Amino acid sequence: KKCVGILTSGGDAPGMNAAIRAVTRAAIYNGFDVKGIMRGYKGLITDEIIPFQTQNVSNIIQQGGTILKTARCEEFRTPEGRKIAYDNIIKHGISALVVIGGDGSLTGARIFASEYNFPIVGVPGTIDNDLFGTDTTIGYDTALNTIVESVDKIRDTATSHERIFFIEVMGREAGFLALNGAIASGAEAAIIPEIATEVDQLGEFIQQGFRKSKNSSIVLVAESELTGGAIGLAERVKNEFPQYDVRVTILGHIQRGGSPSASDRILASRLGEAAINALLEDQRNVMVGIQNDELVYIPFSKAIKNQKPIKRELLNTLRTLSI
Ligand code: F6P
Repeated sequence: KKCVGILTSGGDAPGMNAAIRAVTRAAIYNGFDVKGIMRGYKGLITDEIIPFQTQNVSNIIQQGGTILKTARCEEFRTPEGRKIAYDNIIKHGISALVVIGGDGSLTGARIFASEYNFPIVGVPGTIDNDLFGTDTTIGYDTALNTIVESVDKIRDTATSHERIFFIEVMGREAGFLALNGAIASGAEAAIIPEIATEVDQLGEFIQQGFRKSKNSSIVLVAESELTGGAIGLAERVKNEFPQYDVRVTILGHIQRGGSPSASDRILASRLGEAAINALLEDQRNVMVGIQNDELVYIPFSKAIKNQKPIKRELLNTLRTLSI
């Protein structure tokens, strides 16, 4: 009997539990055994592997985080670490792995799969939305909603005080959260790593807004060395435009928590089931994804390494609507 091992790895994302549930239930439905692997790749090395039944995933679809826990595992980056992992996989009779995670996790999966010729299917779980070949990733919609809720609150106080806020959002070298978060919250601008920003142009733009009728200005900044982050950017703007009353908020890890949105639950359910279907079709070393509402398989090599482009059109939309 085939046995599927499931793990979550890297930064957690709302909807990972819904994905664990979907993979587990779809696997059992199709006659597979299931094993849950704790703490991502780390649990493969430390041998924290437990049998999973349908009831292990009851009542988790609505929970943020991941019941399997997660980690960023240094040891799995070494051939010695991966050898221990492989031995444990064999010991537990696991014949395929489903890895739920982001760029780093799928990079690890790709290396391991080719080193040991072992079947792995990836499920895109990251708030960053930075995996190529899928329109969205599990957790992205929920994180966007958290950003929008937070920015709405900051807008109240920004308007009362007639201030400029630089709000830093997550994204790890990708601007999806910042750009779409800005559009959805009616922010004045988004500063993203994909596109260089001129501080004086940004300042002029903000000034224009205040001159017209605006009482506040909100700029979403993607965390990244390229953007300088919200603190760095705020400093630069303050130096050139000392007349502004500037504040900085870093949203941080609240973006990673919370109950998943309906969209993320549906996405996780579809992708989790698709991962098992992929194994039934003898697919290996692919990530499951969704393009135009259709399920697709994308080779690991294509999905990873920041190849997903930002739509320029969205920047224009933001610019046009924030005058
Ligand atoms: O990949 C998800 C993410 O939240 C990124 O947006 C961020 O750069 C990183 O993880 C933060 O990682 P950690 O929780 O390990 O500080």
